[in-house]
Amino acid sequence: MSTGLAIHPGKTIGVLGGGQLGRMLAQAANRLGYRVQIYEPQEDCPAGAAAYREVNAPYEDLAALTDFARGCDVITFEFENVPAASLQAIESLAVLRPHWNVLWTAQNRSREKRWLRDHQFPHAKFAEGTDVAAGIREVGVPCVVKTADFGYDGKGQLKVMTEADIAAAVQKFAGQPVVIEQFVDFACEVSAVVARSPSAAVRVFPIAENIHTNHILDFSIVPARVAPAVAAAAEKLARLIAEKINLVGVMGVEFFVTKTGEVLVNELAPRTHNSGHWTLDACMTSQFEQQVRAICGLPLGAVTLQSPVVMVNILGDAWAQGEPNWDALLAQPNVRLHLYGKTDPRPGRKMGHFTVLARDADMALEFARKYKARLGGAAP
Ligand SMILES: Nc1ncnc2c1ncn2[C@@H]1O[C@H](COP(=O)(O)OP(=O)(O)OP(=O)(O)O)[C@@H](O)[C@H]1O
Ligand SMILES: [Mg+2]
Repeated sequence: MSTGLAIHPGKTIGVLGGGQLGRMLAQAANRLGYRVQIYEPQEDCPAGAAAYREVNAPYEDLAALTDFARGCDVITFEFENVPAASLQAIESLAVLRPHWNVLWTAQNRSREKRWLRDHQFPHAKFAEGTDVAAGIREVGVPCVVKTADFGYDGKGQLKVMTEADIAAAVQKFAGQPVVIEQFVDFACEVSAVVARSPSAAVRVFPIAENIHTNHILDFSIVPARVAPAVAAAAEKLARLIAEKINLVGVMGVEFFVTKTGEVLVNELAPRTHNSGHWTLDACMTSQFEQQVRAICGLPLGAVTLQSPVVMVNILGDAWAQGEPNWDALLAQPNVRLHLYGKTDPRPGRKMGHFTVLARDADMALEFARKYKARLGGAAP
């Protein structure tokens, strides 16, 4: 149900998914005077602690979901694996933004890649289906085999760098729907967070340069240290994708930048993105506030960068030798710390992040690496 009218402060925002993205969304919405309700299968979730109300039930429980939706003016999602059918079931009960169709396209790698191909967005060559061997033959070696569903932080991926790796990939993914992508020997990775409002206004945050370690985002650097033409190309692609997919809300777009300066789309995430967390501390409007503005039909906020910045993810690994040394981090005058209130610091789990502001991006990165090393945990 789309009213075309703005959903003003005082109204209720429902969020499906209760992780850190929902938590920071709730914090931004609270500041603007909205009431936030979280729907999340697992109790005591990070977002619930920052919200007015938390409902714990499976996404497939349509009775609970319907009841939840009736109490909301607008509903969005912060988790990419909410079944699109569950969203479809509630679309007549509250304004749903983005449309479930956007999630449907982005949550499955085969559909996502096909969508990029069908709309002529530049991407790495790929094959898809359940015949892993045939897909590898089609794409060639080196390549990366990825499960079509439920991948995140590099889970469900295997690199096939030489012919000798093929057998292991065929065995690992036997019978599963996969996407096989050409391995991109990239110069760097960048990303954009784009917002689009119901009235089709679009704003793209400054492009971030991302460094992944073990397939998990480690550092986001802004401004990205790339040629202006590369940043402009990424920004333009993000804008065109948001328009073409008819986004209302916020979307993260990940890119590979090749050694010849080509910008290829890697993935779409129709929600706020880990590589946009720096906007909380170094931008006029954060990506979470922008999400609130976009889904509520308010004017989009300015995306002006206020200082060069580096964001560092804090993973459960930082607890390897006990509680991280927060005092050392908090003693720094150019650091802001964000923790998600999670109690179980498993290796690879995103527990929080911090940002470092400095005169330029290189300097911020230098500080960031130093502060990260002092935090404790396993050696990188
Ligand atoms: N085709 C490729 N060529 C080179 N590197 C790749 C390729 N695909 C993935 N990678 C590397 O693995 C990382 C994670 O891949 P991808 O973005 O597909 O994963 P994901 O599991 O969906 O993770 P997330 O959703 O957390 O970004 C990429 O950011 C990149 O560093
Ligand atoms: Mg990714």
